[in-house]
Amino acid sequence: MTREEKLEELRRRHTLAEAGGGEQRRAKQHAEGKLSARERLELLFDEGTFEELGEFVEHNCRDFGMDAQRIPGDGVITGYGLINDRLAYAFAQDFTVFGGSLSEANAAKICKTMDLALKVGAPLIGLNDSGGARIQEGVASLAGYADIFLRNTLASGVVPQISAVMGPCAGGAVYSPAITDFVLMVENSSYMFVTGPDVIRTVMHEDVTKEDLGGPRTHSATSGVSHFVTRDDAECLALVRELLSFMPQNNREDAPFVESNDPADRRDPELDNLVPAESDRPYDIKEIIHRVVDDGYFLEVHAQFARNLVVGFARLGGYSVGIVANQPAVLAGCLDIDASVKGARFVRFCDAFNIPLITFEDVPGFLPGTQQEFGGIIRHGAKLLFAFAEATVPKLTVITRKAYGGAYCVMSSKHIRTDVNFAYPMAEISVMGPEGAVNIVNRRELLKAKDPEKLRKEKSEEYRNRFANPYIAAERGYVDAVIAPRDTRPRLIHALRMLENKRDTTPPKKHGNIPL
Ligand code: HXC
Repeated sequence: MTREEKLEELRRRHTLAEAGGGEQRRAKQHAEGKLSARERLELLFDEGTFEELGEFVEHNCRDFGMDAQRIPGDGVITGYGLINDRLAYAFAQDFTVFGGSLSEANAAKICKTMDLALKVGAPLIGLNDSGGARIQEGVASLAGYADIFLRNTLASGVVPQISAVMGPCAGGAVYSPAITDFVLMVENSSYMFVTGPDVIRTVMHEDVTKEDLGGPRTHSATSGVSHFVTRDDAECLALVRELLSFMPQNNREDAPFVESNDPADRRDPELDNLVPAESDRPYDIKEIIHRVVDDGYFLEVHAQFARNLVVGFARLGGYSVGIVANQPAVLAGCLDIDASVKGARFVRFCDAFNIPLITFEDVPGFLPGTQQEFGGIIRHGAKLLFAFAEATVPKLTVITRKAYGGAYCVMSSKHIRTDVNFAYPMAEISVMGPEGAVNIVNRRELLKAKDPEKLRKEKSEEYRNRFANPYIAAERGYVDAVIAPRDTRPRLIHALRMLENKRDTTPPKKHGNIPL
């Protein structure tokens, strides 16, 4: 071959790789409102920075006429580039090539990218759009999935891993995203299920649409598999970029410090009146969060799932922080199974990646009842307790109102090595609410009383005066300071600065045994 012929061959192969599954299949993808794999990568990375690796990889399958069908790249584009000027690795499955299905060769490309991300210490983003294991390759494609799952597991807690599910994902295609830190889905085009409606109809005699079974609404509000739902591919990719801005590159670094014009000493008098005087009146904890954080900006995670607990990212005095807050506007802010699992996973992510935790607490306790007990609220509630106790990042808590019972201990209390615990003057810290307490402690007197209602009121008032305040906890040092709500922002920022060089450890062990 002459030099010119060799260059011509390179151009030919490059054109084939660019074309993927061809014009017709790409047009179908566009008609469904989806971008192509290459278009997605262009939006994900800073303009012109994406470098492809493995462009000419082809599959090794000779069965089922596959020998005659080879497309350079084999259905997945892999490589690296810059996101907000920082290095990141990505793979994008190309649905136009064998339905983005996972072959042995295609899995090897993804694994190579994951290995690089882990060695270098930079985030890995998967853009998933795949019919699952490539049927023609049998066990070789299953092996490819297992190779990916292993790497997802080894990389967990070392580099951030984000999965954007941007098409149908069935079978093996759902388990890699499930191991990663955050899952994003796109309205009207993404689905996740272990097995689809047809199989369910045959095996379980159950009729369900693919939207109800595994659409974004189901996974964001009911199952909790997905953390974010976006309107289209472009919004999804922009959100991946934004999410990364709150995270460090790996577990040995800190998240970027982002200077803000919002003054650190900004006090907000409106906060003094935000928590209602009546302890059973609901209010929106997100209003407090927005008023406290830099520029009022809060990126809520898992917004539709277990809305009685709010979690998400914000910045305080320029520091990236993870916020965990009971939501009195939903289920009175009680902790239930879903809220405990949601909170525990978020706390563990922040702890793994050196992101300080800020807890806003207003919690009447764990949600009682047979449904919760039979579902294992003891086991699941323990996850949140374990996660907070295990976390060694700077931890700050603000008790805005109720801190009752076991939930007091769980929600980043002083006793599980929280660094700074604040309480508002209207905080109520006790074993349970006055009504419940009086019914137990004064049961005999109430049975004998001529006017039990009057007595109940008197005893409740007595109990409230004695226990429903933050000063008993403050006297013991369980609360470090009782603060005026208006001072929340400066007090939190001062504490964060004070804790900047915090180092804490857990006893040496292989790993803890979080109650899964
Ligand atoms: C090979 C596949 C494929 C697969 C799709 N294609 N899935 N090729 N292996 N798994 C091909 C189709 O033949 C078709 O090729 C092209 O991709 C587009 O597929 P369509 O069916 O035309 O697209 P659509 O109607 O949009 O339906 C998409 C789909 C459906 C819902 C994903 O294709 C589907 O149900 N696929 C199979 C899903 C599945 O059960 N996978 C195996 C899971 S088991 P042409 O040439 O016509 O364009 C698994 C085990 C791993 O993954 C376990 C690990 C724990």
